[in-house]
Amino acid sequence: MLSQHIQDIINEQIKSEMYSAHLYLSMSAYCETINLSGFAKLLREHNEEEMSHAMRLFDYILDRNSKVELGAIDKPPSDFPSLLAVFEKVYEHEKAVTEMINNIYALSVKEKDYPTQVEMQWFISEQVEEEKTALHVLERVRMVGDSGPALLFLDTHIINEDEEVEEIR
Ligand code: FEO
Repeated sequence: MLSQHIQDIINEQIKSEMYSAHLYLSMSAYCETINLSGFAKLLREHNEEEMSHAMRLFDYILDRNSKVELGAIDKPPSDFPSLLAVFEKVYEHEKAVTEMINNIYALSVKEKDYPTQVEMQWFISEQVEEEKTALHVLERVRMVGDSGPALLFLDTHIINEDEEVEEIR
């Protein structure tokens, strides 16, 4: 069974992962409204990935014969000044998530909760990939700047680029 502290912090992380899912879905809707369907699809896929992170933690709590307590998910922003602002926010958000994951790991070390350390190692590795992908997309968006033709090209190819980054990993 999980300690109360570990149970609480993992329940909080489930909420954070669900917020990430909400945030990326809201960003996806914004991209659709500015006719960038490739970026919209990329963010919609990230929404699903964040929900899978939440469910992995959900199942972990249950596997440890402990209690899942779902919290209210904050409303994500629905207005964004630009595509660049969206991906700057994605990168900053992923760095904040990494801090949260590291905090759970640190607590599990402090409490000598070895199974939680092993579970968190998966998330620590995942966050390396999440930050890498977020930065890759952000740098591409920065690179095209205000060039409409370059932006349209990137929008068409961004999904493939994301998959190529996955393959390089
Ligand atoms: Fe679940 Fe993007 O971190």
